Amino acid sequence: MARVALVTGGTRGIGALSAKALKEAGYGVAANYVRNDEAAAKFKEETGIPIYKWDVSDFAACQAGIRKVVADLGPIDVLVNNAGITRDTTLHKMSLEDWHGVIDTNLNSLFNMTRGVIESMRERGYGRIINISSINGQKGQFGQVNYSAAKAGTLGFTKAVAQENATKGITVNAIAPGYINTDMMAGVPEKMLEKIIGQIPVGRLGEAEDVARCVVFLAADEASFITGSTLTVNGAQYLTS
Ligand code: CAA
Repeated sequence: MARVALVTGGTRGIGALSAKALKEAGYGVAANYVRNDEAAAKFKEETGIPIYKWDVSDFAACQAGIRKVVADLGPIDVLVNNAGITRDTTLHKMSLEDWHGVIDTNLNSLFNMTRGVIESMRERGYGRIINISSINGQKGQFGQVNYSAAKAGTLGFTKAVAQENATKGITVNAIAPGYINTDMMAGVPEKMLEKIIGQIPVGRLGEAEDVARCVVFLAADEASFITGSTLTVNGAQYLTS
């Protein structure tokens, strides 16, 4: 039986490329999304990957969504917590809604989703949880207090859940992408984008494929000794040990 992978925010950007790469690697894949029906339908048509619509910031919706995926594809072996949003503005202009929106979607979703799969993974003695963090969770970013806080929280979440489940055949890792050429970059002003590219030693934005191949690497059965780690994919823009 093929292993089953669920990718949140899996119909566009890094999530879509990860879902496709997992399918190519032989996994049964489910892609979650919440808003863009048109993009999701196109993704489903192009890839044949089934799509599931729910809001990852809603705990009850996550439990119902997970139950549906399990009923359709079987127990989830690989969870990729990828769904995320930005609401960039400086703290002194940030609304409470912008703060909570980003924390709920980018960080509380990790609890909502991981809580929904972890008991089954522990019972079955196998699991791969891959959390998409960000360079801006590692270094902080002007205009992204909410996003940086959520993505830094993702790293702490990863390390704690990794320790709790290390004896149960479950690995929990984070990937910290740098600036990747996806729809998320569309909100970055042109002059800011030029400045950012100037800060990347590789001299270009990353591509979603660059991250997707890391997802496949960490999802593998053979990656069983890699847990609690953060895999940095940022073209040498920010280097941590
Ligand atoms: N460091 C220091 N100062 C900065 C700065 C920085 N990084 N960025 C802007 N400033 C300064 C500007 O120079 C400007 O100063 P002056 O008024 O003296 O000229 C002041 O701050 C205001 O800047 P803006 O005119 O840009 O202000 P704004 O209110 O129009 O926009 C902003 C602020 C929304 C933060 C905008 O600068 C912005 O969008 N920045 C990009 C934020 C970013 O990197 N987002 C990443 C999105 S992609 C992503 O999130 C994926 C991922 O994981 C990497």
